[in-house]
Amino acid sequence: MKKALVTGGAGFIGFNLSRRLLDEGYQVIAVDNFITSSTQNINILNTYHGFTFINHDINNPFTAELEKACRDVETIYHLACPTGVPNLGPLAEEMLLTSSVGTRNVLELARFTGASFLFTSSSEVYGNPGVFPQAEAYEGNVSPVGIRSPYEEGKRFAEALIAMYVRKYGVDAKIVRVFNTYGIGMSLDDTRVIPRFLRLLKDRKPIEVHGSGKQTRTFCFADDLVDGLIIAERTGERGEVYNLGSDREITILSLAEMIQSVSNIKSEIVFTSGVSYDHDRRLPLLDKIKQLGWSEKTALESGLLKTIHYIAL
Ligand SMILES: NC(=O)c1ccc[n+]([C@@H]2O[C@H](COP(=O)([O-])OP(=O)(O)OC[C@H]3O[C@@H](n4cnc5c(N)ncnc54)[C@H](O)[C@@H]3O)[C@@H](O)[C@H]2O)c1
Repeated sequence: MKKALVTGGAGFIGFNLSRRLLDEGYQVIAVDNFITSSTQNINILNTYHGFTFINHDINNPFTAELEKACRDVETIYHLACPTGVPNLGPLAEEMLLTSSVGTRNVLELARFTGASFLFTSSSEVYGNPGVFPQAEAYEGNVSPVGIRSPYEEGKRFAEALIAMYVRKYGVDAKIVRVFNTYGIGMSLDDTRVIPRFLRLLKDRKPIEVHGSGKQTRTFCFADDLVDGLIIAERTGERGEVYNLGSDREITILSLAEMIQSVSNIKSEIVFTSGVSYDHDRRLPLLDKIKQLGWSEKTALESGLLKTIHYIAL
């Protein structure tokens, strides 16, 4: 039986990825310390044959239990990282340490087991982009000391560390820069825009749109994202970087209206002051991942409908 390690396996994407690998017949070891998740997804994954959960902070040295369980892993999906814009302050240190010390610990495991390694980086490495769409070769516009830097620079450092492990130690690593993703397995306590809107709807409260609502985003359904992670891991080239997400832009106001219409719950839309360090727009160039055979399959309306059914709004 093939064996994979998923760091951050209790989180939103880790849950969807673990489920897919288990469905394919993999043995999956998920590692997480629940810093931005809960036991909810693990309780579901625990019902699968072949699933093992180890509660561990990857910033700490690996325990004997973890090393033993991971001795024969073939693939490592390294997703662990604290997420969420409101966490940029309170979890700044954890973001920086997980991207650096934690990522090094996981890379060392890949080096010694010979496992292939896939890292979920982020569109945030482009910072506040001056170029649209963003190709992988775009070097970004990031302040090393700005409020967003613990996440943005953390991901950039992790990418640099991985590139070094590829060159110096020959680790078979790929980097995927994930753009906004949504879907089943997101906690309604998650502060990202889609779960935040769904939470407000569930509580029958007005939907709060930050700023004018004219800022745009793209949203990729988790199933499609998982397809892309697996394709990049299995057919991508060692040391390469791939953007992954949706390239269909929507304004945040239109998103709020679409969520109202799909959920069939009418509630007021109110405008609140946004955070000053929010970005106006983000748009991936997806040619590289499409050349590996990936395509986005799920329209936003149908992905939202599936998400809404799952959380029983
Ligand atoms: N969801 C998105 O839209 C999006 C966009 C860009 C990048 N990403 C990246 O994808 C990955 C998964 O994101 P997600 O949306 O599932 O977020 P998430 O917060 O739901 O999952 C991340 C998981 O990592 C765990 N974690 C954090 N630090 C850890 C540590 N030191 N040790 C062990 N576990 C730790 C958290 O507890 C959480 O369960 C992250 O690396 C994130 O940066 C996600």
